[in-house]
Amino acid sequence: MIRKYNYGTPFETEAIVKKFELSSGSPEFGTIDLSEGFCLEYLMDEMDIVYGLGEANRGINKRGYIYVSNNTDDAIHTEDKQSLYGSHNFIILSGKETFGMFFDYPSRITFDIGFTHHSKLTVSCEEANLSLYVITGDSAYDIVKQFRSMIGRSYIPPKFAFGFGQSRWGYATKEDFEKVAREHREQHIPLDMIYMDIDYMDSYKDFSVNEDNFPDFKAFISEMKQQNIRMIPIIDAGVKIEKDYDIYEEGVEKGFFCKKEDGSEFTAAVWPGYTHMPDFLNQEARTWFGDKYRFLTEQGVEGFWNDMNEPALFHTPEGLKRAKEAAREFIQEEDEKCSVWGLNSVLGGLANNPEDYKNFYHNIDGQRVRHDKVHNLYGYNMTRAAGEAFERIDPDKRFLMFSRSSYIGMHRYGGIWTGDNKSWWSHLLLNIKMMPSLNMCGFLYSGADIGGFSENASRDLLLRWLAFGVFTPLMRNHSAAGTREQEFYQFEGAEDFRHIIGVRYRLIPYLYSEFMKAALQDDLYFKPMAFEYPEDKIATQIEDQLMLGNEIMLAPVYTQNATGRFVYLPEEMIFVTFKSDGSIEEKRMEKGSHFIPVSLNEVSLFIRKGKCIPVCQTAESVDELDTTKLTMLGYENSEYLLYEDDGVHKDYENPGNYQEMKK
Ligand code: GLC
Repeated sequence: MIRKYNYGTPFETEAIVKKFELSSGSPEFGTIDLSEGFCLEYLMDEMDIVYGLGEANRGINKRGYIYVSNNTDDAIHTEDKQSLYGSHNFIILSGKETFGMFFDYPSRITFDIGFTHHSKLTVSCEEANLSLYVITGDSAYDIVKQFRSMIGRSYIPPKFAFGFGQSRWGYATKEDFEKVAREHREQHIPLDMIYMDIDYMDSYKDFSVNEDNFPDFKAFISEMKQQNIRMIPIIDAGVKIEKDYDIYEEGVEKGFFCKKEDGSEFTAAVWPGYTHMPDFLNQEARTWFGDKYRFLTEQGVEGFWNDMNEPALFHTPEGLKRAKEAAREFIQEEDEKCSVWGLNSVLGGLANNPEDYKNFYHNIDGQRVRHDKVHNLYGYNMTRAAGEAFERIDPDKRFLMFSRSSYIGMHRYGGIWTGDNKSWWSHLLLNIKMMPSLNMCGFLYSGADIGGFSENASRDLLLRWLAFGVFTPLMRNHSAAGTREQEFYQFEGAEDFRHIIGVRYRLIPYLYSEFMKAALQDDLYFKPMAFEYPEDKIATQIEDQLMLGNEIMLAPVYTQNATGRFVYLPEEMIFVTFKSDGSIEEKRMEKGSHFIPVSLNEVSLFIRKGKCIPVCQTAESVDELDTTKLTMLGYENSEYLLYEDDGVHKDYENPGNYQEMKK
């Protein structure tokens, strides 16, 4: 049962695609106070678990901390952080009373989930203009499925996007990319995509290519494709201010950039230097920007990643002026009076300053709306611009698309990657814990930068992270300029990396099938243990094991120097190890706790009692996979329903896509 309540005048975010009648009265859970903005309070029971919030810090159970939905470009996701790049305002209470709540509010909203008072859930925002959806059902899992059916089908990428992708900030020339392709192909490390970070562009101008580095870009894209490698360029939100740059000039002429109060274009520095921000919340501007992707699709590009779309603002001219004044005063101060901290905070406060977000406006259906009031919708609408354009460009073709910033609703147009993490073991664990929450909010095609974006990755971290990445739909090794080179071939013992990625390709028939079933049935690809074993008191507390699809359970190793880990089995299962010599070991294990050995060069998974999964032979790209010859792993006399399609078009509803497999 779903009930919708409106407070004030909610902004139409288009997160929800189903129509609901408004309910009168108050929601049956919690109390609402509208005296200062909006505030909902609910008294939690001692054992209640709180799920949801998608891309958020800490655990699967969100209880015990404060989370603030406020899309933020913050590369240091330490445990104290309350906001990351996305805002996914859906929570599920599971326990004494079980219900879900979606707060459809496009600006900053705070979830204090038993932090200030252990038993109190407080959800509050400044303005009482929002829609609240309250969902009741049989279980947390059932509520999630109902929510997913309200928000529309999750984005489905082309099948090649289930292959492995190599990325690094710093690849600039045709030769740089060719080297990555060559190393992979020569060393037989599978590869389907190479990502093009900002240096492929001319002076970081969107929809431009540096012609010195790519004399014939179209031919280059086609040569790579002949090797079954897709090139995936980045597109940043800010448009460089430069005379004679067509996109800048057109945007100004048509009034498609965000404006300040005085009607002039808002300016902020990002990678290209000073830029203007396209007004993605304006339908016409969105169509205009979306059509620019044609510049690359016409040259054979089949996928993109959208970045810096919180939007990230390094500084504004006004902020810089204030900082310079502060620096001037600092220089003139006597040494004893100098406030180093004061100057530090002025300089540190230049980037993504909350005040800057109050200084520009959107033109939404002729209405002027201040940016901070709809801040969390910006990245969503950038990706929507692309998604809507792909429908015009080639309606039956799937394009790869994922974004950094997001809001629920964007999940229909693209996936997400989880932004600038670090080469830390704790960030591998964060990646593991975040996946089911992302799925609950509709983001199925997602993943983290494997090995970590900033800082230097050790070989063992990279291998362990990769062994988890085998299972994340988006599987990409990405790292920042200036860090240790993180391509697999830069490390000793390339065969270990080759083997682990090879296992991913062996599992693609199963992983793709489970992904597609999850997308087509508004279901989860990754689930917390509690969703499958709600009655098991131990399973409901486990956060470092995940269920994947309907057949398997994962217990990734995420600590350094470990030779394996402890795992809890809520029922008998078959422990499967993909050994480094290519063999597959299957071992039946009883319900209970066990220590499982997992070497650095192995991939392991558990098959649930009575189930089986298909595997194929490995290949160096998705296009080369032979999915006609499948072997089944798991329990004798079990069955599996396999989904398969051409991976290119959108013939999803064809009953011929399903096939019964038997072990
Ligand atoms: C941002 C992105 C990162 C990218 C960098 C340069 O930090 O999150 O992935 O490499 O910008 O474009």
